[in-house]
Amino acid sequence: MSVFVLDHPLARHKLGLMRDAAVGHREMRALAAELSAMLAHEATRDLPVGRTTVKGWAGPLEVPRVDEAAVTVVPILRAGLGMLSGVLGLLPGARVGVVGLQRDEHTLQAQAYCSKLGERLDGQVALVIDPMLATAGTAIATIDMVKARGCTRIKTLFLVAAPEGLERLRQAHPEIAVHVAAIDERLNGAGYILPGLGDAGDRIFGVR
Ligand code: PRP
Ligand code: URA
Repeated sequence: MSVFVLDHPLARHKLGLMRDAAVGHREMRALAAELSAMLAHEATRDLPVGRTTVKGWAGPLEVPRVDEAAVTVVPILRAGLGMLSGVLGLLPGARVGVVGLQRDEHTLQAQAYCSKLGERLDGQVALVIDPMLATAGTAIATIDMVKARGCTRIKTLFLVAAPEGLERLRQAHPEIAVHVAAIDERLNGAGYILPGLGDAGDRIFGVR
């Protein structure tokens, strides 16, 4: 599994702002979108670029063209929605396949309650987005669902990852690419990332 950590002063600055517990949902949402655009910028570096001919001002011109519709962004409800605007800002023509999973607070098992991925994802590049990779149960279950629809090119984008979650994800899906803004220290006994962001969904949406 390849793991890429955003190496940029603005990424470190923005994530630092998000770690301040006093920051409210309005700023959390803006920062999540800004960091997600930076992650998407890195994660799309190897998208295939075709050629097309346009009518330039001085005559026909061959220009590069990315097939944006060959990318399916997969936000994991609920917190993943907080990253969607940033990713779509860069890839406005991407498809969006939504999945809903929630961790049981006691067992930490991820339960799926929604799947709107479409019938098939053959030939698509999937960008799975979720702010937090903690135990990785949610991400692993989502990637299982994406693979079951025939997708073979999967990248995951997280704001913060725990080392424990990265190791579990590597064992379950060794061929995927992971893009993160930071790898934090560890999980606490309740499965929360330290120092982390707290409950990312609650903080981005402003409701518990
Ligand atoms: C959070 C987070 C991830 C998951 C990570 O979602 O957004 O989806 O937990 O935990 P894991 O790696 O241990 O599976 P949560 O279940 O709190 O749901 P929410 O997005 O609705 O807030
Ligand atoms: N989900 C969150 O929102 N935060 C964590 O630290 C772990 C899981």
